[in-house]
Amino acid sequence: MRKAKTAHQMGFNIERLPKELQGQFRALYDINGNGSPEYYLAPNDIYCGDARDLLQLVEPNSIALSVWSPPYFVGKEYEAHLTFDDWQKLLATVIQSHFPIIKPGGFLVINIADILVFKDPAMPRIQAEVMHRKRSSVTKEDVLGAMAEHPEYNRNQLAALLGCSEQTVDRRLNGNNIRGGKYEAQTRVKVVGGLVEQWALDAGFYTYDRRIWVKDAAWENSRWHSLSYRAVDEFEYLYFFWKPGITKYDRTRLLPNEWEAWGSRGVWRFPSVRANNDHEAKFPVALPLRVIRLLTDVDDTVLDCFMGSGTTAVAAIREGRKYIGIELEKKYASLARHNIAAEKNQLCLLTLKS
Ligand SMILES: C[S@@+](CC[C@H](N)C(=O)[O-])C[C@H]1O[C@@H](n2cnc3c(N)ncnc32)[C@H](O)[C@@H]1O
Repeated sequence: MRKAKTAHQMGFNIERLPKELQGQFRALYDINGNGSPEYYLAPNDIYCGDARDLLQLVEPNSIALSVWSPPYFVGKEYEAHLTFDDWQKLLATVIQSHFPIIKPGGFLVINIADILVFKDPAMPRIQAEVMHRKRSSVTKEDVLGAMAEHPEYNRNQLAALLGCSEQTVDRRLNGNNIRGGKYEAQTRVKVVGGLVEQWALDAGFYTYDRRIWVKDAAWENSRWHSLSYRAVDEFEYLYFFWKPGITKYDRTRLLPNEWEAWGSRGVWRFPSVRANNDHEAKFPVALPLRVIRLLTDVDDTVLDCFMGSGTTAVAAIREGRKYIGIELEKKYASLARHNIAAEKNQLCLLTLKS
């Protein structure tokens, strides 16, 4: 940990701004108020703990970019203990805690997806009439006709008379298949963009941009695609939030062909991580790498407070940026340190060869 810098030491001369802007900017830049810790987390390290606690120890106005992918509330091992309410509070608090630590003019970029199987006990049951699975030509009218003719017949006898199964008789009389079983809560899509945006606006950020990452189509995860009209899971969002302040625009951060291929494009396409053998939900290094290249300069500090396997730190190192990583689970913090060491070794080897 290291001692806090004052706003003046950070090189902001607020007195040079027009008088009418000075008050507004002083509030943004000069935020070392009472209650700030005397020491802050040093860059280029991974800290194991809860993001809600450790973000309080990040130096105010020191982070050029924070880019992360939180728990998505989709039942992964590391989020299984959270209720939907807990999950919302976690994200709202984490976003709120970012405002003081992002540099004025800097960015918070959140990679997240809608919740595609969101349990909603209030939702009426979906009646799925699965046409391609209808094997018997017996109709409801046939069953009712047979019942009128033989009121004394039970289901079994009706089925024998009509030449179908007892289950078919039951289905024709009582309606069709009920998706997910008769007693399970129904599931619907929960769109999360509006929630995330509101938490960011409440914290003081402004929505700056939104992009889509087209990933591998997760056919095996989509429990419904053969039984409904819903699309398979194949894209995620990147929401860019801006903290008011001076933002540097530098077109030389990317090559002209990179601007054309992805810098100015709203849809990014690159494959998902296929071997999730050491962490359940890694994003590909291309994701933080692009955001880092677009929004930061060499030596800027990049934060990821849901660091997982260390992907953001690896991208930061590759691009000559500093990083701060926060991760709750010890096993993932160790994995991140391991992946960071491997990246540094790789860079050393490349430097030696060149
Ligand atoms: C979607 S994963 C991030 C994966 C990461 N982007 C990568 O490529 O490896 C979310 C991570 O947040 C961690 N996590 C969950 N709750 C946390 C909390 N309260 N504070 C810090 N980390 C947390 C989980 O252990 C998990 O590793």
